[in-house]
Amino acid sequence: GPYSVDVVTIFPEYLAPLRQSLLGKAAERGLVAVGVHDLRQWTDDVHRTVDDAPYGGGPGMVMRPEPWARALEAVRPPGTRLVVPTPAGRPFTQAVAAEWAAEPGLVFACGRYEGIDQRVAEWAAASGPVSEVSIGDYVLAGGESAVLVMVEAVTRLLPGVVGNRESVEFDSHADGLLEGPSYTRPASWRGLDVPPVLLSGDHAAIARWRRAESLRRTAARRPDLLAALPEDALSPADRAE
Ligand code: ADE
Repeated sequence: GPYSVDVVTIFPEYLAPLRQSLLGKAAERGLVAVGVHDLRQWTDDVHRTVDDAPYGGGPGMVMRPEPWARALEAVRPPGTRLVVPTPAGRPFTQAVAAEWAAEPGLVFACGRYEGIDQRVAEWAAASGPVSEVSIGDYVLAGGESAVLVMVEAVTRLLPGVVGNRESVEFDSHADGLLEGPSYTRPASWRGLDVPPVLLSGDHAAIARWRRAESLRRTAARRPDLLAALPEDALSPADRAE
């Protein structure tokens, strides 16, 4: 069956982009099934209250656990990973995206305010894996935009979603390095020339040049990625660059 993506949120309109472009087409073609669910349908009071003051005091509000439990009982197939976006989570990376793309689907729980009562994640762990993840070291107003980011990163790895498999295999981060620069016609533009090796027709020389550019860029912009590569990731030729 299709890869299932279910999102529970108090702002369902915010997830409208999930039905656009690459993902919309994947949904039309039956590769992905997207469900967006309003958390308030699982509240029990006339005001449809989803939050309350934090125990112990402090600023902001915390999302109440009971609407979340009911929502997840209704929406989450047994064993499906629950993803909770939070700036206090483990980093979401390309490797995480690839792991999740190998699973049957995902359920996302979007918190607002100061987050969701921590007991929800604890309780949910009895029904399947739970991942509290951050998309970067900055604070968003809520998890919705993080879900858009993660769903796009995961679904483009699903078989058939992106036309060209190579464009996925050669991506930045696929081999732990940043992708180097790209060029198209004209060969000379406003006094700036395309690197001549790319016009040489020498495919081995082009591959060597691209590898060198990738290493150069990674060293300049993301030395942390170079330092994190496995021992055997760099050949003697790479190390000479
Ligand atoms: N919610 C708020 N900030 C976030 C972040 N950086 N990543 C994921 N979810 C968030």
